[in-house]
Amino acid sequence: MIHINTKYVTPFLKGDMNDYQSRVNEIHHMIHEKTGKGSDFLGWVELPNTISEQLPRIQSVADRLKQYDVLVVIGIGGSYLGTKAGLKFLETPFKHIKPEIIFAGHNMSSNYMVELLEYIKDKSVAVNVISKSGTTTEPAIAFRLIMDQLKARYSKVELQSRIVATTDQARGALFQLSKAEGYDQFVIPDDVGGRYSVLSPVGLLPLAVAGYDIQEMISGAKKAYEDASNPDLTKNVSYQYAVLRYMLYTQGKKIEMLASYEPNMQYVNEWWKQLFGESEGKENKGLFISSALFSTDLHSLGQYIQEGERHLFETVIHIDQPKKDIVIQAQDQDLDGLNYLAGETLSYVNTKAEEGTLLAHQEGNVPNIVLHLENVSEASFGYMMYFFEIACAMSAYLIEINPFDQPGVESYKKHMFQLLGKPGY
Ligand code: PA5
Repeated sequence: MIHINTKYVTPFLKGDMNDYQSRVNEIHHMIHEKTGKGSDFLGWVELPNTISEQLPRIQSVADRLKQYDVLVVIGIGGSYLGTKAGLKFLETPFKHIKPEIIFAGHNMSSNYMVELLEYIKDKSVAVNVISKSGTTTEPAIAFRLIMDQLKARYSKVELQSRIVATTDQARGALFQLSKAEGYDQFVIPDDVGGRYSVLSPVGLLPLAVAGYDIQEMISGAKKAYEDASNPDLTKNVSYQYAVLRYMLYTQGKKIEMLASYEPNMQYVNEWWKQLFGESEGKENKGLFISSALFSTDLHSLGQYIQEGERHLFETVIHIDQPKKDIVIQAQDQDLDGLNYLAGETLSYVNTKAEEGTLLAHQEGNVPNIVLHLENVSEASFGYMMYFFEIACAMSAYLIEINPFDQPGVESYKKHMFQLLGKPGY
């Protein structure tokens, strides 16, 4: 479902990808035998196989939540970005779905929260509150504020139908609170970190509420699992991608920009940025992770990419089969000068824009790794999530850091809690 074109990166590389085969073999075994740094957090590796037994319950709770107007998904970081990525990737633009899925707890903007409360006050509301630790401040505050409204509107029994908590199996304030109130609970396994949790109930429940086929998602993820099970670099595209970005990094590149030509990739970009940024950016190492949506950003960042400082490379995701297409028709009077495109599809023009950009950026000394994703479907979404997760683990182990912790995120919390006067800080 994903294949790679290395034509626009190979000329920039010193050495050969296959030189890294023995290191890749070692890391592959570290991942599967759980012997590397952070090995307590490798539960996501088998998730495509282990999650299947939970799918009927996830689907049944999702079917119940579908009766409401709005599902508020409360979470931050890995507890919301995968869902957002899936919703945007699979959406039909301009089509409103019911229930509408909206997000809270990923910011602490008072304006956003007041407007959200106003927006939901006359609607029939359900909530999926997601926090592995069950103690993260942003979603905890959002949950409290939203529940203040909902408790004034619905009985305790009614709330038990509408509120679902996705959290740890035994610990944390959210676990205790939702147990005490009798809310449905889904478990985020101990060994699955937030940014590797999209293929668990964290992502699957809200995506099922939105009407997407989670069985298909998992069958795509299983395919990615199988494709990544052989560490042979001539076959394993996830590992090829990991090694290429490692080579570029060790040969002086500092920034990786994920680029695509389809707006439905917007939140895949954001999810990917969290996955790689939070996994690799530690011990003063790691590529800085950024993203762009072309053509839009060709008319803003494009100038910098072409002629700015030469410290970046791009990874382009090309979607091979667009969901819809349209033919450009000839006009009698060619006033806009576009008759030379008559008979061509818009996707053809988009592809030529991509090819032209690849050539231009190559001339500007920007290496490009091109990943071809087969289509836009639940299966390709599941495939892509797993593809990047395993590539990220390989990448992070190549630079010899723990891919599964995020010690740097604690610093801002410590200062914030001191400033807020939280007991114990
Ligand atoms: O990837 C991660 O582990 C983090 O981004 C977490 O998902 C994020 O901090 C939210 O944590 P929690 O689910 O515990 O509220």
